[in-house]
Amino acid sequence: MKAIVLKPGTTSIQLKDVEEPMIQKPTDVKMKVLSVGICGTDREEASGGRADAPQGESELVIGHEMCGQIVEVGSLVKDFKVGDYAVFTVRRGCGHCEACLADHYDMCYTGQYTERGIKGRHGYQAEFAVDDEKYLIKIPETIKDIAVLTEPTTVVEKAIEEACHIQTSRLPGHNKESWLQGKTALIAGLGPIGLLGAMVLALRGAKVIGIDIVDKDSSRPKILEELGGTYINAKETSLDNLLKQHPQIDLILEAAGIAKLDFDLFDILGMNGVYVLTGVPAEGKPLDVNGAHIMKQIVLKNQVVLGSVNASFDNFHSAVKDLESGLKKWPTTIPKIISHKIPFKEFEKVLSKHSPDEIKVIITWAA
Ligand code: BGC
Repeated sequence: MKAIVLKPGTTSIQLKDVEEPMIQKPTDVKMKVLSVGICGTDREEASGGRADAPQGESELVIGHEMCGQIVEVGSLVKDFKVGDYAVFTVRRGCGHCEACLADHYDMCYTGQYTERGIKGRHGYQAEFAVDDEKYLIKIPETIKDIAVLTEPTTVVEKAIEEACHIQTSRLPGHNKESWLQGKTALIAGLGPIGLLGAMVLALRGAKVIGIDIVDKDSSRPKILEELGGTYINAKETSLDNLLKQHPQIDLILEAAGIAKLDFDLFDILGMNGVYVLTGVPAEGKPLDVNGAHIMKQIVLKNQVVLGSVNASFDNFHSAVKDLESGLKKWPTTIPKIISHKIPFKEFEKVLSKHSPDEIKVIITWAA
């Protein structure tokens, strides 16, 4: 079968014939891959950055944001059948830490986890994929055309879930389900993660503000506004002005991965606020930041700063539910988050280049 294969640590990436995966255990499921999204992690890998081939191999099939349709099931598969739409999760546990033994691989303590398409395991940019049904999440047919957004949605589900969990365990009078009702949430960076975050936050009843540096008439601010959010162009409005308009920002969902901006945002986080970081900034020159000012504020305003990566099985289930609700509520808006669909033979067009009107680019493998 065809697959997009990278030599980790280099920029050598090509479409190659590799062995088609077969069902090996009675609990395995084989999927025809329909489409696979491309994100910052894939681009980092393709530019010679963070990526590891499986042990003993020198190449890695990339891709982790997949959706597919089942073509074969092992004899003991209980919950899936041929024809079902589904997505495989990304991370596999280390097998011995407390978190992984509890199937919470996203919280692995040892760092010895593997990730399909990223770290030590082949990914999904290929015609077929096989794995245990344990790692499979069913997709209702109604959202099959946007199911490739499931994995990026899980990233915001985890970030938001953890923020709500922490806030409701330390603040009086709230429960996790209702904490966001009427709260002000700021999203930094309106890429796919930011926009999916806007969808989830709006579904939970938050007042959503999105900040980016693109023209307000371009597609990403428009999508935010269709979801009921307010756009702030950081090139035109200073953070001081933003603070005047929105003096109590309860939650910041960071999805920009720009270290300078991320530090500046501390200045607008409100009393008892929570700041969740999901972006992975490229390492560069050290920054000059006013550390004492930031630390003093975190203490005097009872703030929480939290990093969040990957997602649990529960987050996958919430993502599917929210994509269903989101599509029902905004049937023409949510599909626009997938801005480009590129046939696999043309993958090179999008892996190293970023077009200005791009939101989520997906590689299509089958209809
Ligand atoms: C993926 C996560 C993964 C993380 C770190 C992100 O792009 O969405 O699933 O854990 O990269 O490798």
